[in-house]
Amino acid sequence: MLRRVHEPAAGDNPASPARSSLLSLAAEIRHSAGWLERRMVRSYLRRQGITVPESAEFFGFPTITAAPGSTLVLGERFNAISGRRRHVMGLNHGCVIRTIRPGAHLVIGDDVGMSGATVCAAGRVEIGPHCLIGANATIVDSNFHPLAAAGRRYAPLPEPEPRDEIVIGANVFVGAGAYVLAGARIGDNSVVGAGAVVTGEVPPDSVVAGNPARVVRAL
Ligand SMILES: CC(C)(COP(=O)(O)OP(=O)(O)OC[C@H]1O[C@@H](n2cnc3c(N)ncnc32)[C@H](O)[C@@H]1OP(=O)(O)O)[C@@H](O)C(=O)NCCC(=O)NCCS
Repeated sequence: MLRRVHEPAAGDNPASPARSSLLSLAAEIRHSAGWLERRMVRSYLRRQGITVPESAEFFGFPTITAAPGSTLVLGERFNAISGRRRHVMGLNHGCVIRTIRPGAHLVIGDDVGMSGATVCAAGRVEIGPHCLIGANATIVDSNFHPLAAAGRRYAPLPEPEPRDEIVIGANVFVGAGAYVLAGARIGDNSVVGAGAVVTGEVPPDSVVAGNPARVVRAL
């Protein structure tokens, strides 16, 4: 009976020069492909009329749209991960960042990173600098439909109220799958637990979790 015996070929030796030059070639190709992809995403978004800083980094294609007459600002070194395979946790979808009516303001500060997150502004959403928005988190300042039952099915997007605006301070960490809804105000440095639902005030330097989100400890 024939037995298959593994006899290493010359290139199989982990320490061989042939193997290490193949590995470094593969790394170089991956690096160049990533660089090219980021350039393509930036130029695609600019063609859609979005102002994208040169320092922004994109891994996979996000959906970023600005309604006519709205303001959408992406800070320096903005970083969005959108590919399902680009994130250790896997992502439900690419990042979705939109202003959805004229007059809306969506301002994302410098050095913000997000992974498969959804951020929609009908009125005003501000995300401070150095925030981390975790996998599949959702930040929306509108209910999208009126709450009153009469005519709800076909009603247009409700007018935003000033009390609906969302303000997320600097250095905030929003956990995976959390919902930050109309009227939420999250203080600097705070952490929102995975799956939390935030509708009100989160004090600075605190950890909140659950639905509705409650402070579980101070930082
Ligand atoms: C919120 C979080 C930061 C808390 O961590 P921690 O400070 O170590 O807190 P603990 O684990 O000691 O939990 C404190 C309390 O909050 C509760 N809690 C913690 N996380 C919770 C969550 N996500 N939802 C509901 N309750 C939660 C705990 O059960 C505990 O309750 P108890 O005091 O009644 O026993 C952490 O649990 C979490 O959700 N991290 C987010 C991870 C994530 O999404 N990463 C992003 C990947 S992209």
